[in-house]
Amino acid sequence: MEKPFILHMLTTAKNLSPFDVNMALDAGWVSAVPYINVEADEVQGLVQDAIFSRSKKGLKRTGIFIGGRDTKQAMDMLNIAKSSMVPPFEVPVFADPSGAFTTAAGMVAAAERELQNKFDTGLSGKNVLCLGGTGPVGQAAAVICAKAGANVRLVGRQLEKAQRIADICNEEFGNNKINILAGADGDKDQYLQEVDIVFATGAAGIQLLSSEQVAAAPQLKVAADVNAVPPAGIAGIDAFHDGTPIAGSNSGAVGIGALAIGNIKYQSQNRLLIKMRESDEPVYLHFEHAFQVAQDYVKETA
Ligand SMILES: NC(=O)c1ccc[n+]([C@@H]2O[C@H](COP(=O)([O-])OP(=O)(O)OC[C@H]3O[C@@H](n4cnc5c(N)ncnc54)[C@H](OP(=O)(O)O)[C@@H]3O)[C@@H](O)[C@H]2O)c1
Repeated sequence: MEKPFILHMLTTAKNLSPFDVNMALDAGWVSAVPYINVEADEVQGLVQDAIFSRSKKGLKRTGIFIGGRDTKQAMDMLNIAKSSMVPPFEVPVFADPSGAFTTAAGMVAAAERELQNKFDTGLSGKNVLCLGGTGPVGQAAAVICAKAGANVRLVGRQLEKAQRIADICNEEFGNNKINILAGADGDKDQYLQEVDIVFATGAAGIQLLSSEQVAAAPQLKVAADVNAVPPAGIAGIDAFHDGTPIAGSNSGAVGIGALAIGNIKYQSQNRLLIKMRESDEPVYLHFEHAFQVAQDYVKETA
């Protein structure tokens, strides 16, 4: 009898995300087993408990998913899981805390497509603002853009918090090879004077950019809003917008809404969950791999 595909799903939270459970089963995992309230120092024990119970053939049908709400914690847990493997006892691991890696990947890939299609340019050298950027989605988007060569400012209501998060992004996720700046929400009007791309990644139902602010951004090209709960995170962007001109933009900016982003996010997460099952070698997946598959999906559907 073939062994079933088992995905051990670890979260630091008190519940696993039902979204992630559905995604896992829909991607062909047969069993999605939750481990809740997991702390980083428990990861090695859990991983080694999983890997020693199956042969190499059985381990190809075994995987570990890392959820939770905290990006740094999830990346730390991914690294601990990787270093806990004892080859040939090794299984694939995928971190997507709060769905943030795949959401950010989908949003940035869609923005990159619009830059290319409508403005004949790319992310490199562009000025990017991540509004509400201190949450998991904003952090991942900031890092993906900075790694692609953009000048990124991560903005929150308090400069100190934004600076602390920007430092974590630069040091932990960018190996000090990127330089994401921090910004305060109160200085937004000043940042808008030079911005090319705006991402609204704040909490659900919070408007972070008004119509007046969109109109006052002289070189804004693309604005993307992940918030699906009214009011829109960016005034004038509908959840269904997908490269749609933003009414009132004086620079001819186009908007991308939450449902258009959600579609690419879904495809990216689905593909990575399938890649875990199908890959011959164990894979260790995070925001960079999410961005690659999101870019692939965007190109295929162009
Ligand atoms: N479209 C999709 O497929 C998809 C998938 C997943 C998530 N999402 C959406 O993506 C967004 C970001 O998710 P997340 O988990 O990263 O967000 P989050 O952690 O809940 O919030 C992000 C940031 O929003 C700011 N914020 C919170 N309350 C605020 C308020 N009252 N006024 C202004 N700013 C406020 C906070 O920053 P400061 O305290 O630093 O100001 C917070 O760090 C959410 O809207 C979520 O629903 C969309």
